[in-house]
Amino acid sequence: PMPMLHNLGSINLDHVYRVPHLVTPGETLASHAYAVGLGGKGANQSLALARAGGRVCHWGRLGRRDAWARDTLADAGVDVSHVSLVDAPSGHAIIQVDDAGENAIILYPGANHGFDGATLEALVDTAAPGDWLLLQNECNGLAALLALAAERRIRVAFNPAPMTDAVGELPLSACRLLFVNRTEAAGLAGLPVDSPSDALLDALATRLPDCELVLTLGAEGAWYQAGGERRHQPALKVSAMDTTGAGDTFIGYYLAALQRGATVPDCLAQATVAAALAVQRPGAAAGIPTADEVADFLGKESP
Ligand code: RIB
Ligand code: NA
Repeated sequence: PMPMLHNLGSINLDHVYRVPHLVTPGETLASHAYAVGLGGKGANQSLALARAGGRVCHWGRLGRRDAWARDTLADAGVDVSHVSLVDAPSGHAIIQVDDAGENAIILYPGANHGFDGATLEALVDTAAPGDWLLLQNECNGLAALLALAAERRIRVAFNPAPMTDAVGELPLSACRLLFVNRTEAAGLAGLPVDSPSDALLDALATRLPDCELVLTLGAEGAWYQAGGERRHQPALKVSAMDTTGAGDTFIGYYLAALQRGATVPDCLAQATVAAALAVQRPGAAAGIPTADEVADFLGKESP
């Protein structure tokens, strides 16, 4: 069978406000639309993996009243047997999206920061040889889990988002695959955020020589790097209405392709199309396309 991917990741309730521009200090701004939907980098990535046909088990924590969020993941085909309903508020995000599709986000971790040592142990005990562990930076316990994964030789895919100073201190030697955007790459590389992509990739290759890297640059496409190999995947030209969750969609689709043994160019192509479809739809989880939609697009585009 396909190796399982265990994703210990955030589940958020996204409160999305459509605004004419992102609110400025001291300003009170009326929004012209409001919706609540499923989000959280962890949940979005699990949902994208499942929609892409991948095998994914989500490890998460959600407030008792918000079981609908777990059901949404289950309906998409995510194994939710390790998503617990707890007596703590769910994580949530206050998201502004402006008319150009740009966003600004306030995050409240809530239940996502309540993981205990026993759960981390249970995860590494459950993982079979060849399984993957996927992590983002919206849950607690990362340092302990990375150390356990290294000890048990579990392959880790890591998306250090959102970037914080603490990421630089993590034991990253267990990472086999790193997904970073420009901000995260610069933070990890210790370089200015406007550095050329080659400089970012060089620095990351030096820091994490055994790790494959995927650097996503939005409209400038994505870079893949492993050992001496470096490959660019151009982005598709689309007009973005909501970029929230596009990076998560990219990661989920990339990993699902990898899981079924696809080549790197194929992983990049699937992920790029899925992200391009996601930015044209509102919502994080709600905007993630299905595998059929991605296949249709690729079918039309290929000669
Ligand atoms: O990556 C997008 C996600 O970031 C949103 O769904 C929001 O919950 C924040 O965590
Ligand atoms: Na979207």
